[in-house]
Amino acid sequence: MTPPQVLIVGGGMITHDQILPSLYHMQRQGRIGEISVCSSSAKTVRALAHAENLLRAFPGQSFRPYPDPHHGGHMGPDLFREVIAGLPPRNIVVAAVPDQIHFDVIMTALRHDQHVCTVKPLVLEYRQAQEIEREACRRGLVVGVEYHKRFDDRSLMARRRYREGWFGEFVLGTACLFEKWYYRHSNFQNWMTTENSDAFTYIGCHYVDLVHFITGLLPAAVSVYGVRDRYPNGNQGFLWTDARVIWNNGACLNVQNGLGFPDDAPGTNTQGLVMYCKGEDAGGLVTHSDQYRGLKYSYVRKPEGSGATIYAEPSPDYFQYLDLGGPGLTPVGYGYRSVEYIINACLRAEAETQGLPEDQALARRQAILKEYDAAGIMATPANSSFNERVLEAGRESILNGGRVVEIAWQTAA
Ligand SMILES: NC(=O)c1ccc[n+]([C@@H]2O[C@H](COP(=O)([O-])OP(=O)(O)OC[C@H]3O[C@@H](n4cnc5c(N)ncnc54)[C@H](O)[C@@H]3O)[C@@H](O)[C@H]2O)c1
Repeated sequence: MTPPQVLIVGGGMITHDQILPSLYHMQRQGRIGEISVCSSSAKTVRALAHAENLLRAFPGQSFRPYPDPHHGGHMGPDLFREVIAGLPPRNIVVAAVPDQIHFDVIMTALRHDQHVCTVKPLVLEYRQAQEIEREACRRGLVVGVEYHKRFDDRSLMARRRYREGWFGEFVLGTACLFEKWYYRHSNFQNWMTTENSDAFTYIGCHYVDLVHFITGLLPAAVSVYGVRDRYPNGNQGFLWTDARVIWNNGACLNVQNGLGFPDDAPGTNTQGLVMYCKGEDAGGLVTHSDQYRGLKYSYVRKPEGSGATIYAEPSPDYFQYLDLGGPGLTPVGYGYRSVEYIINACLRAEAETQGLPEDQALARRQAILKEYDAAGIMATPANSSFNERVLEAGRESILNGGRVVEIAWQTAA
C-alpha cells in the first residue's frame, strides 16, 4: 500500500509543538508519505519551515507549504478548500485551526473523501458533531479527535482500574488547567475572544473528556462562571473560568481554567485531577498531578522562550525529543502516541480494504468505524459528542452569568 499523504490545515502552536513532529516521525518510519501544511498566511508556514527545533530533530525532512512561496499561489482563509480538493481521495487531513473553523475544515475534508484527525474540540455545537458523524459514516471515513490526555498512561491506568471497580463510584472531584500568562500575547488574542470561546471551552474540555474516559459517566448539567479580562490588543476574553459539571449519577466535577499561571512559575502550565469516589464501605481516590511529574531542574542560565524559567519542572510525559542515536531526535510521549494512534486508525481502515470492490470496502470501513466507536479509546464523533453538548451548555451558561444549563440526553439521538 502506498503510504498516504497527510495535509495539516493550520500552522500554529499545536502544529509546531506536537502535530508536525509526530507526523515527521511517522514519515521517517515510512508509514506516511508527503506532508503538506496549509495556513491562511505565508508567514506562518515560512516560520514553521524554519523552526530550529524541527530542523534539528528531522534533518532532511520538509513539508509542502501552502501558500507556496515559490509558485506565488493564492492565500487567505479559503485556500484550504482548494488544497483539500487537490488531494487524491482517502488520504488524511489534520484540522489544526482555531476551534470555530474545525467544522468547515472537517466537512470539506469529508466531502472530498478524506480521513480526518482533528485537534480538540471536535466542534463547538452538538448538531455539527452529529452532521460530521453522519457524513463520515456514510462515506466510511475515520474521524479521530485528538484528546491527547487519553494517551497518558496514567489516564489509561485509571480507566482500567475504575472499570474493574477498584475505586468505587465517582462522587466529587476537582480539575484545573491554567496556561501561562504569556499566552495572552499569542495569536489567541485574535480568536479566543468572548464571542467565540473561553478558557473552559479551550482547555476545560480536556478534563471533562477525561472523567468520561475514566468512568464512562455522561454529563447532565453544566454551569460556567467566567471573568472577562482584556488581551494586550484590547480584545475581551473570558480568560478565567470556574465550571461545575454534574454527571448522570449525580457526581459533581469542578473545573477551573485560565490563561493566568505566572510566567515565572516552574512548568509550562499547572494542571491536575482529583476524584473522590465511594465503594460499599470505603472511600476511593484518584489524584493525578499532571504538572509536577517528579523532575526538578535548575539551569545555570535562563532558557530562551516565553514562560521559560531557570528553575523548571519539565514533564517527561507529554512531548519530548530524545536522542536515541539519530538521525535527528525522536519524539516521545502521549502527545506523539495520540497522533500516531489516530493516523494508525486511518491506515488500518485503508489497509484492510485494499483491493476490495468499493461496495464491500465501504461496508468493511463502516464496520471498522463502529469498532472504534465501541472501543472508546480514540474519541470519535459518535462516542465523544457529549463534549460538544458540554461546550454548548457551557457557552450558554457563561454568556448568562453562570446559570445552570441541563443536558437532556433523552432527546439526543
Ligand atoms: N491541548 C490541546 O489539545 C491543544 C493545545 C493547543 C491547541 N489546541 C487546539 O488547536 C487548535 C489551534 O490552536 P493553536 O494553539 O495551534 O492556535 P494558533 O492560533 O497558534 O494557530 C492557528 C493556526 O490556524 C491558522 N488558520 C486560521 N484560519 C485558517 C484558515 N481559514 N485556513 C488555514 N489556516 C488557518 C492560523 O494561520 C494559525 O496558523 C485550536 O482548536 C486549539 O483548541 C489543542
